[in-house]
Amino acid sequence: MHDLDQTTITQAVLDQMATTTDPRLKEIMASAVKHLHAFARDINLTPAEWLFGIGFITQIGQACTDSRQETILLSDTLGLSALVNALHDKTRLDDATDTSLLGPFYRDASPEFANGDCIAAHPDSPEIGFYGQVHDLEGRGIAGARIEVWQTDEHGFYDMQKFGNEKSDVRGTFTADALGHFNFRTVRPLGYFIPMDGPVGSMIKAQNRHGCRPAHIHFLITAPGFRELVTSLYQGDDQYIDSDVVFGVSSSLVIQAKRNPASPFPSLETIHYDFGLARATESGEARIGADPSKLLKAPGLVGGA
Ligand SMILES: [Fe+2]
Repeated sequence: MHDLDQTTITQAVLDQMATTTDPRLKEIMASAVKHLHAFARDINLTPAEWLFGIGFITQIGQACTDSRQETILLSDTLGLSALVNALHDKTRLDDATDTSLLGPFYRDASPEFANGDCIAAHPDSPEIGFYGQVHDLEGRGIAGARIEVWQTDEHGFYDMQKFGNEKSDVRGTFTADALGHFNFRTVRPLGYFIPMDGPVGSMIKAQNRHGCRPAHIHFLITAPGFRELVTSLYQGDDQYIDSDVVFGVSSSLVIQAKRNPASPFPSLETIHYDFGLARATESGEARIGADPSKLLKAPGLVGGA
């Protein structure tokens, strides 16, 4: 029998979990327990504080719906999503476009558009153009690459914030041509507050953080034989470009729309950005985020349906 105190309790838990069959689950849980216990000892966690924490975690779960994912938001605002992305990028075979957060506003299915189409159904502001190429390490275009794009409208709202899962807007899927090129029209996105009316918002307010993301456009790009690319491009003149509340911005992902006579849309301000894909590996999944409706149906850790 263990003589349990504030230090021996950790080994007692590790001993009991040692029967875990799945080796990776065993490794993850052992490390999680060690760090959680160290955290509690480090700050001398009181019962009242931990009850507050349990209440907070409970509220995070209760705030999740088919169209809202508060847990992803927590991961994002704590920098954990960006950290996991950075760890994932270190495992790629080739230099490629940097990843950024998928976030909670991705949807598995978005409408198909043809090159040149506008993804905003009813623009309230001047359109901008976007064009680019999806290419491999050698700069060769990847024919037929699939480009999923989604963003806020010019007022700073995603479609799912306005319509739930009923209607799609300012998001779409494009297919690159034989040389990997694609282009579309859209509206200039507006930066936004993350949802501040839930427990994550309360945390952000208590920390006196502004809670804003700089304006950005999300991309998920796939092609057979290549690692899926999840990234976002950020508007360089946004006031929050250096203080993104979810730590998604890196300098290689900063863009600025401007007139370009050589673009497919010479009369519009246009963004030009080429995306490099790395070759596929077994651990190609790079989604820190999800379609919220799919996550609620996700299988459990063990024996889920
Ligand atoms: Fe976003």
